[in-house]
Amino acid sequence: MTANTRTDANGIDLDDIGTNPTSNPSFTDLIASRLSRRQLFGLGVGTASTVLLQACGGGGGGGTAFPIIPPAPAPAPAPAPAPAPAPAPAPAKLGFNAVAKSLADVVTVPAGYTASVLYRLGDPIAAGVAAYKNDGTDDPATYDRRAGDHHDGMTFFGMNASNKWDAANASRGLLVMNHEAITPLFLHPAGQTISGTGNAAVRTVADEVLREFYLHGVSVIEVNKSGSAWSYKQDSSFNRRVHTLTEMAFSGPAAKTDYLKTKYSTDGSKTRGTLNNCANGTTPWGTYLTCEENWAGYFRRLAATDNPSRSAKEIAAFTRYGVASAGRELWATVTPDTADNIYGRWNAQVVGATATDDFRNGANTYGWVVEIDPFNPASTPKKRTALGRFGHEGACLGPVVAGKPLVWYMGDDSRNEYIYKFVSAKNWDAADVGGGIAAGDKYMDDGRLYVARFNADGTGAWLELKLGVNGITASNPAYAFADAADVVVNVRLAADAAGATKMDRPEWTAVNPKTGDVYVTLTNTNAASRPITATDGANPRFYNDKTTAGTDQKGNPNGHVVRFADDNADPTSLSFKWDVYLFGARSTASADVNLSQLGADNDFSSPDGMWFSRATAGLLWLETDDGAYTDVTNCMLLAALPGQVGDGGARTVTNVDGATTRTQNTFVGKAPGADGLRRFLVGPKDCEITGIAESGDGRALFVNIQHPGEGSKDIANPGGYISHWPEGGSARPRSATVVITKDDGGLIGL
Ligand code: FEO
Ligand code: CA
Ligand code: CA
Ligand code: CA
Repeated sequence: MTANTRTDANGIDLDDIGTNPTSNPSFTDLIASRLSRRQLFGLGVGTASTVLLQACGGGGGGGTAFPIIPPAPAPAPAPAPAPAPAPAPAPAKLGFNAVAKSLADVVTVPAGYTASVLYRLGDPIAAGVAAYKNDGTDDPATYDRRAGDHHDGMTFFGMNASNKWDAANASRGLLVMNHEAITPLFLHPAGQTISGTGNAAVRTVADEVLREFYLHGVSVIEVNKSGSAWSYKQDSSFNRRVHTLTEMAFSGPAAKTDYLKTKYSTDGSKTRGTLNNCANGTTPWGTYLTCEENWAGYFRRLAATDNPSRSAKEIAAFTRYGVASAGRELWATVTPDTADNIYGRWNAQVVGATATDDFRNGANTYGWVVEIDPFNPASTPKKRTALGRFGHEGACLGPVVAGKPLVWYMGDDSRNEYIYKFVSAKNWDAADVGGGIAAGDKYMDDGRLYVARFNADGTGAWLELKLGVNGITASNPAYAFADAADVVVNVRLAADAAGATKMDRPEWTAVNPKTGDVYVTLTNTNAASRPITATDGANPRFYNDKTTAGTDQKGNPNGHVVRFADDNADPTSLSFKWDVYLFGARSTASADVNLSQLGADNDFSSPDGMWFSRATAGLLWLETDDGAYTDVTNCMLLAALPGQVGDGGARTVTNVDGATTRTQNTFVGKAPGADGLRRFLVGPKDCEITGIAESGDGRALFVNIQHPGEGSKDIANPGGYISHWPEGGSARPRSATVVITKDDGGLIGL
């Protein structure tokens, strides 16, 4: 969700939450290292073995793999002439002219490219479902066979003539995407029908709520290329909607424990639905991972009413996760409830005699990474509890090497939250390709979960989150951990105990196929959440990004991209080296703010979506979800050719907050320049650009335009809608997938 547009009754951004009260160490508390950058980064990153990397988000991974080119070993005198080295591949070059910043209500791509709308909110995905009228009157019962709202993370799974996964397929595939949230104003005849205010507000039209249940979740659609044009196949038997009513199974340490027992599942083995699906991930066996991000606010739990029925531990957990509101969309307030409690299951308060009589544990059934097998439409999605419960932005698969564990890197998107990785217990066996959910059972239910600590000296450590280690014990003063399930259900509290580093809102993770470096977008933070006194090496800036109208925006409103290299080029390493790849800024900002020396063709704010293209062997795509620089430009997509961890140097940043000046040491990547970072697309008004995938040959790029015109207020005044994209005229705006092709049929971006 975009940073500043849809707010609650108190004016608080629905997704701008931060509930970490701990005083975990910032770098300023740590002793600065005297290690030089040369000592830190001049060393080789391991042996010259070649490993294979998979695309994590947008490409299906698996079928095609990236060779990592290891750094040259230190020169040694050769006793005999060595064979001539293979010629180095020509460096990739960005092959388009930058798109200018824009406030127009259109999608703009460079000259020589075409962007076409493919799949819009409400589009039918089954035979016999009518075209979307887009006036709020479509039959609610049809929405389980229509595109959801707020298109987000997305993967293209190439499919062959035998309907099997074929990652290289260039003309046919399953496009799988998240539908994170909704813009309620445009979904019903006149927005949501609500009676009462504050905690007494109730939804009075059940059909409106049913629409909203179906509009969240995931789409699976078959897409095909005919000539140069892409379309989705409305009547494909692979088309599927997964939504908030879809049955899901639990697996891993929390499955079938007391934490997940509800009236719906008295043994804690299952739940219904997935929600706030933001970024995504893939597996090397060909399934899709959807990640539950800011789910906490959807549950109704009025603390004053409910706390007397709760233990101190339960209250601590609710506080840490932010489960304490009337419910973002007020779904729990519909009366009468159905026999199977489709409304009441959103009430996380104690109302019955025991946990199997109500939904007091309902909030524990969300916040997970969910595996979906798109090639088996009848399969039951599975929530993988071994990967922990938090505000999962995405799950990026690391290098895939036969005989080695699999690794996923993950961000927790709230202010001051952490970066995690999960390492499988089992070693990868390529015979599991095509193994579906059963392969997930093998690799994703048993493993080690870690959280990152970024040290001031440019090193870092992965801290294991397991009962009995790193302070995660029954005697932990903030929260007494009882068992393995308690650790994964309340993993934020475990990470607090371990001493993880608070970050400026971790969004997407991406792994560079050429280097193995891991990139994490830190979208932004504000002065209230992270004051000037709380900067640290990996979150080093505090500044006032004044708008053109003179409004103060203090903190780190433009965000940055941190990156790290696990030691010895081994994703199972427990230590790493880091630097900051890129800082968002206005090109006109001062040198201590515009640390990456951005210019008019590549300045941006609030990085969020991020993905390395497979077909181009390492082009990085960067998407923005901005509310700070939107006085000048709509959100955008940029293409980048990043270097590697350590390609820049140490830097002391001077931060200013009014009369207060403080310095902060950090490590800054080499400035990208116009050849290393260039704006490729600017979206329509009041949208976020998010989700990205490519066809198997890299000659079609799929990009999602999320919630154009989201901040519109008056449904009765079509002329006043902030956006009318994509239909134009006076139409209601719609989230949509666009497909971008190059007019000469070439690779996108090069
Ligand atoms: Fe859903 Fe973190 O953006
Ligand atoms: Ca989003
Ligand atoms: Ca996001
Ligand atoms: Ca965001």
